Amino acid sequence: MYFTGKQFQISNSDAFLSKRKERNTSHHLNPLTKTIARIKTNIRFKKRYCNRRALLAITHSSINVSCHSLGTCSCRWLWISFCIAIHGSFATTTANIMIEIKNVRKSFGDKVVLHDVSANMVAGKTNLIIGTSGSGKTVLMKIMIGLMSVDSGQIIYEGHDITKMNDKELKELRKSVGMLFQGSALFDSPNVEQNVMFPLDMFTKDSYTTKLKRVNEVLDRVNLKDANNKFPAEISGGMKKRVALARAIVQNPRYLFCDEPNSGLDPQTSLVIDKLVKEITVDYNITTIINTHDMNTVMESGDHIVYMYQGSKQWEGTNKEIIFSNDERLNSFIFASEFLKKAKEMSMMEAGRK
Ligand SMILES: Nc1ncnc2c1ncn2[C@@H]1O[C@H](COP(=O)(O)OP(=O)(O)OP(=O)(O)O)[C@@H](O)[C@H]1O
Ligand SMILES: [Mg+2]
Repeated sequence: MYFTGKQFQISNSDAFLSKRKERNTSHHLNPLTKTIARIKTNIRFKKRYCNRRALLAITHSSINVSCHSLGTCSCRWLWISFCIAIHGSFATTTANIMIEIKNVRKSFGDKVVLHDVSANMVAGKTNLIIGTSGSGKTVLMKIMIGLMSVDSGQIIYEGHDITKMNDKELKELRKSVGMLFQGSALFDSPNVEQNVMFPLDMFTKDSYTTKLKRVNEVLDRVNLKDANNKFPAEISGGMKKRVALARAIVQNPRYLFCDEPNSGLDPQTSLVIDKLVKEITVDYNITTIINTHDMNTVMESGDHIVYMYQGSKQWEGTNKEIIFSNDERLNSFIFASEFLKKAKEMSMMEAGRK
């Protein structure tokens, strides 16, 4: 499946990206938000753990101290501004959630494969869905791009529930989605250039020269500069993944979905693919969602991780939090070998958590 869209037209890509960057940086320009962030850092208060009431109490006391020399009126103004900023900072956190999965249930006949799954995909980050084989990762991903329906629950993209969308609206949304399928799913007969150009042929009216320029740009981006005329049968598994990645990003998607991008690759080539996906996510400010079993991917790229266990969300957090997690199921999945178990124990001892 390939998607395209007016708002992501190739010729407009630079303007689009700079606009998106502008929008993102504007969050950081609010001095009050900055101050709050500084206070939060100073008191070593991790945002995700923070209790709003506790934060209010601490910031209140900070203000009382720091504004001791100011008049009552200024203090009150500052206090109100801080409250607004605190509210704003929480609102920003919510705004950073690009895709919300809410109470999703899915079954095939009698077999329930997703049980009331709720999770978030964070904007502009590499989001991973991990879990053992059969835990429901691919079904969840297909539901997220509207390829499968839910029995109940919601998939909300920036406030819009796709489970309630009609075909036309879904088609519109899909224009902003790029997908790298498990097994790459390249066409055998067309060459690399034609494979990557396919979505542009299908969904744009651009001239051949414009399309070729874009194809060469993305092939260059995935380090396949001179592979245009090769056929899929003539390239390695790692190259196939990179061609599939080039095809997934050729239309400048807002969301990039990758189902097992590392499957069948050696550890080194896997790392190359991981690094590439991560760089593309950052450079183009894409929200990326990856299904993976690969522990290197988890540790290297997992900005935000959802761990699935037998069709339920078992755990959600970052790769740094995994090290210190006490979730037994997660630990036995991630730190399966004796070597990794020892590595985790050592990390916890070093951090004084054990
Ligand atoms: N179209 C379908 N019809 C019936 N059952 C299905 C269908 N698709 C998936 N399933 C079942 O749903 C469950 C979850 O499958 P899914 O492909 O999501 O697992 P997964 O976590 O992606 O596994 P893997 O890591 O092996 O890719 C499995 O038990 C599978 O048999
Ligand atoms: Mg799968």
